[in-house]
Amino acid sequence: MPASFGSINYWGVHAFSFTNAKGNKQFGKWIFEPIGGTQGLSDEEAKTKGPSFLFDDLRERVAAGKVAFDFNLQLAQPGDRIDSAVVPLPDDRRKVNMGRLVVKSVSADSGGDCLNITFNPIVLPKGVEPSNDPMLSARAAPYVVGLGRRLGEGAKQ
Ligand code: HEM
Repeated sequence: MPASFGSINYWGVHAFSFTNAKGNKQFGKWIFEPIGGTQGLSDEEAKTKGPSFLFDDLRERVAAGKVAFDFNLQLAQPGDRIDSAVVPLPDDRRKVNMGRLVVKSVSADSGGDCLNITFNPIVLPKGVEPSNDPMLSARAAPYVVGLGRRLGEGAKQ
């Protein structure tokens, strides 16, 4: 059980290729790691928390300017499986830092711009390309159905 949404790792389970200024391509899997390290709760501690404590905690930590993650890329080596979201890269693969994500605000529930947009994991910034993981294109179709329902029926939260 995480102690906070701001103190757990977020794994990008698909592999993507990243191209540098010289045109060299490197496949890898990204991971956002909290700058203060991960924090968990024991079962006993978790029982003392209310049902929405993670959401309340996130608002408090963000307001205090405490939520930031290192954006790290775990580098694949030749022979590593890069076409499967369910096969992680070996633990000992080197990680390089590519930047820092700082969360500066949290939208109110049932609002915010995300209700009216769709997410497609193969729409990527310049220099980043999808791997041959078939799950990537399989995700695009249901997300469009989700957008249609949110636009037609409204938020369910
Ligand atoms: C590695 C595979 C996958 C990952 C990492 C993943 C991740 C996610 C994430 C992060 C969300 C957003 C959740 C949120 O807004 O709170 C989401 C939403 C969703 N996913 Fe996936 N997903 C995967 C595969 C799939 C597949 C295979 C399907 C269906 C065939 C699917 C169907 C959906 C649907 C229907 C939604 C809701 C979309 C909406 O709100 O409009 N996902 N997924």
